[in-house]
Amino acid sequence: MIEQVSALIREAATEVVLPMFRRLSATDVTEKAPGEVVTVADQRTEEVLSAGLTALLPGSVVVGEEGVAADPALLARLRGSDPVWVVDPIDGTANYAAGRTPFAIMVALVRDGTTVAGWIHDPVGDSLTVAEAGSGAYVDGVRMRISADPPPPGGLRGPIMTRFFPPGVREAFRERASVLGEVLPGVHCAGREYADLVAGVQHFAVFWRTLPWDHVAGSFLVREAGGVACRLDGSPYEASGEGSGLVAAASEQIWHEVREVLRTAGV
Ligand code: IPD
Ligand code: CA
Ligand code: CA
Repeated sequence: MIEQVSALIREAATEVVLPMFRRLSATDVTEKAPGEVVTVADQRTEEVLSAGLTALLPGSVVVGEEGVAADPALLARLRGSDPVWVVDPIDGTANYAAGRTPFAIMVALVRDGTTVAGWIHDPVGDSLTVAEAGSGAYVDGVRMRISADPPPPGGLRGPIMTRFFPPGVREAFRERASVLGEVLPGVHCAGREYADLVAGVQHFAVFWRTLPWDHVAGSFLVREAGGVACRLDGSPYEASGEGSGLVAAASEQIWHEVREVLRTAGV
């Protein structure tokens, strides 16, 4: 199953996502909400993945970003009893539509409310980060174990996506966050942020908006690699949960350091 899904994702990348990259016409890109674009490639990729994934697992259903945009009632599938494929057909659409990288394809499988597998594919780098529950995370077949060694104080590195933060908190947090170390603005692709955490390139990532297709695969992959991905109350991030705020971190200690800075900023 893991290999079949990986092959399907790679096929969607080579058949749909890459051929349309930098070849979109003006009418191929539309605004689905103020400041949020969608392209025909997002929609086509979700169709291809949905058909392939449900065929691989009879009785399963899909919660995909573009499907939910068309019919928000589909989100209720996350609380049902059927296995759910959570699909972000193109994560980083703003980059993709502008002809920039990074962007990613993300898929997760959720059973009875718990994530049991996750995939993040970088079509341009042709890299696949994948995990199955209890088996650890792999990047292109190589087992990833996030280092538990704490970096020196102030030596952390990671992005903080403040775009959806409550305004007062945003300013307070920006002021205080530099005590952590190198705070990055983010690359507009949650999939890349999570893959970089799994690969040990960064130590944390902070998100305010926590839509399932943006975070289910990545938070699961971070945990399988030995890291932490929890909501602000310390509970593991899961697809069916609601609310704002998510901190992914290389270790418990780093999670608490980042959480403490958020607390001093008012959340
Ligand atoms: C976006 C990216 C971005 C995150 C936004 C998402 P999309 O996903 O993951 O990193 O900060 O909140 O909407 O819309 O390009 O799939
Ligand atoms: Ca996304
Ligand atoms: Ca998307």
